[in-house]
Amino acid sequence: MTSLGVALVTGASQGIGRAIALRLAKDGFDIAINDIPSSKAKLESLSKEITEKGRKVCTAVGDVSSEDAVKNMISTVVKDLGGLDVLVANAGICITKPLIDSTVDEWTRLFNVNVLGEFLCYKYAAQQMIKQGRGGRIIGASSVAGQQGEPGIGAYSATKFAIRGMTQVAAKEWGQHKITVNTYCPGAIETEMLENIGKDLVSSVKEFYEMQSKTSPLGYNGKPEDIASIVSYLASKEAHWITGQSIAVNGGRLTL
Ligand SMILES: NC(=O)c1ccc[n+]([C@@H]2O[C@H](COP(=O)([O-])OP(=O)(O)OC[C@H]3O[C@@H](n4cnc5c(N)ncnc54)[C@H](O)[C@@H]3O)[C@@H](O)[C@H]2O)c1
Repeated sequence: MTSLGVALVTGASQGIGRAIALRLAKDGFDIAINDIPSSKAKLESLSKEITEKGRKVCTAVGDVSSEDAVKNMISTVVKDLGGLDVLVANAGICITKPLIDSTVDEWTRLFNVNVLGEFLCYKYAAQQMIKQGRGGRIIGASSVAGQQGEPGIGAYSATKFAIRGMTQVAAKEWGQHKITVNTYCPGAIETEMLENIGKDLVSSVKEFYEMQSKTSPLGYNGKPEDIASIVSYLASKEAHWITGQSIAVNGGRLTL
């Protein structure tokens, strides 16, 4: 089967990242999947699913907040799959805490994974794409909380604003190399991350999901596949003139 190119998805063992990896495989990309070492078993089972779709797959375990790990990840992908055409910098963490109670350690951990991690992935992916000279697509994970400050997850919210700023700059600097750089900004998507926020804020996840669904005029929460479909479009050749944008997928919770 011919390939559309090579796509790398970070934080791919579950939730939104997993759905993106499966969707891009279905679209015809060969897929590299990344996550932290403790998620290795889940990555192995995802790798099997992707292979069954007839696509080549490479597993590159590593913490995106480590520069060495990111460099290794990119060189493993290039060695195993022959190049890199699409990066989806999806890995992220959330800590639920009012801003006034947030500690320096928590602030630093969030910025290390969400901002430094995404920066390193953008940087080394862009270097590889520039070297190849055939353009590329870089897509990062922001959030509705990166478009409007969200009480209760203030430090997380700040990281997601930072990603939009970095994405705008990267788009302007790398456009000359025909690399587009965009983010997706999900509203409430039912994943382990949202479940954990629910457990922290109200005792019942079911109750929290119901509360969240009311923030959308449509009255329901999103699924990981709803984000995978916009990523599929942003990764496609057709999306060549969309860059520097943050695409809101939030059921109408926030209209800009
Ligand atoms: N679920 C939502 O409602 C929602 C809303 C807005 C934005 N987002 C963003 O979408 C992305 C995916 O979220 P999700 O809901 O699927 O979360 P999730 O917690 O279910 O999955 C995140 C994945 O990232 C991995 N990860 C964490 N730290 C990592 C690191 N240092 N290196 C490599 N991998 C790491 C985790 O192991 C996990 O597999 C995140 O960036 C998140 O902030 C999610």
